[in-house]
Amino acid sequence: MNNILVIGSGVMGNGIAELLSINGIKTTITDTSVKSLNQSKEKILFSLNSLVNKSKITNRQKNIALENIDFKEKIDQKMNNLDLVIEAATEDFNIKKEIFSTVEKKISPDCILASNTSSISISKMASQLKFPERFIGMHFFNPATIMKLVEIVKGQKTSTETCNKILEFTKRIGKIGVISKDYPGFISNRILMPMINEAIEALRQNVAGVEEIDSVMKLGMAHPMGPLKLADLIGLDVCKSILEVLRDGFNDAKYNPSKLLVKMVNEGKLGRKTKQGFYNYNIDKNN
Ligand SMILES: NC(=O)c1ccc[n+]([C@@H]2O[C@H](COP(=O)([O-])OP(=O)(O)OC[C@H]3O[C@@H](n4cnc5c(N)ncnc54)[C@H](O)[C@@H]3O)[C@@H](O)[C@H]2O)c1
Repeated sequence: MNNILVIGSGVMGNGIAELLSINGIKTTITDTSVKSLNQSKEKILFSLNSLVNKSKITNRQKNIALENIDFKEKIDQKMNNLDLVIEAATEDFNIKKEIFSTVEKKISPDCILASNTSSISISKMASQLKFPERFIGMHFFNPATIMKLVEIVKGQKTSTETCNKILEFTKRIGKIGVISKDYPGFISNRILMPMINEAIEALRQNVAGVEEIDSVMKLGMAHPMGPLKLADLIGLDVCKSILEVLRDGFNDAKYNPSKLLVKMVNEGKLGRKTKQGFYNYNIDKNN
């Protein structure tokens, strides 16, 4: 696994590409949005500098990362030398389906295809592929450079060989892989998202304010971050999409996104990435 393509240069794609390049892996990142790809360069450089400042990586590792990463608007050629493609595009089945059916035609038979989806069925995405046995879920957590876990999701047809290769690779990049079966939300978001949704409902019903709700979970449950701040970090649009996948996947209205969450997404308040969510994020204030 020395040559990897990351598709999508949003919150997760940037983090994954940064992580891979720090580990000395030739990484190409691409996005259909030129704006997002341009911002990606700045964001990755900013993040590498802050990892150096926090002594999480050395200056040498930062330079290795910068040498290894390539930003490409179009990735038509040279796809046959890829070992792994990690898709981290918008959480939408049709977008991902289109990406994988295009990419599968261009890669070599040995290349593994992975999706960083938070909730969409791996078996469903694989069902339209010619070689579903090399398709797998590789669910990184935000920020990908810091968080230890990769939830590895085995679809119905994912081969043991693919799963073992990804487990081994996960170790190589300093992460711990945990294997989940392919149920909506897998392990992580099946547990996390109902909690976040309930915190938003508590806010909507005016049980308490944002700070109070987050404080209860931090101080009373020893969570490192309150659920509303975590929702801002994940992205409120991503939270809403995951809840919809849970609701539709289990056919259970208990997963309906809170009306307040829907309202905020419609207003473009998506959390950190738009600088407004349950908290306000401005340049000077790193809250
Ligand atoms: N945000 C999180 O905390 C988090 C954590 C784990 C997994 N995920 C998953 O990672 C994926 C990406 O989430 P994100 O938070 O980075 O989203 P994001 O909205 O920050 O970024 C998505 C990017 O995908 C790009 N994109 C859309 N269609 C594309 C296409 N056809 N080809 C290439 N790029 C395309 C968009 O332009 C955008 O830049 C989702 O599947 C999400 O569920 C998110």
